[in-house]
Amino acid sequence: MAPRRPSSKLTQYKQLVSVAQSVRRLAHAPFSNFHVGAALLATDGRIYTGCNIENSSYGLTICAERTAVFKAISEGERNFRAIAVISDESGFTPPCGACRQVLMDLAGNIDFIMANAKGEMEIVKLKELLPLAFTPKNLKNPHRS
Ligand code: THU
Repeated sequence: MAPRRPSSKLTQYKQLVSVAQSVRRLAHAPFSNFHVGAALLATDGRIYTGCNIENSSYGLTICAERTAVFKAISEGERNFRAIAVISDESGFTPPCGACRQVLMDLAGNIDFIMANAKGEMEIVKLKELLPLAFTPKNLKNPHRS
């Protein structure tokens, strides 16, 4: 049998978008009715999913992106390649400021894939979304893990 060719980045990212699309159905968004799904790709190929989870004390709501990265970190993952995000808006949904900061800190300068209802993608580097970011490197005693 011919050896299996590693799938191209585009194929991988399309798959990531489709995972994000499925997990969006699990969003708990009774207050905004805005459903978001995220799929975070680790360098080892593992995918961690997340959806937004709202709270009646609105400020305690967590976005899909942070759900995904917190799940990954809590499972021991440390190296990431990309995150795909999709909402039920027809256009692309850019991440909020809090998610930009958290992703930069925990996942680094990964590809941020915004997907729309047609399955189209807009891919930007996280650094483009958060230039001149404050990161652990800026701390007096940077942590090393
Ligand atoms: N939301 C996300 O989950 N990710 C984003 O990138 C944008 C916003 C959520 C938070 C809240 O539950 C709802 O969408 C409306 O802001």
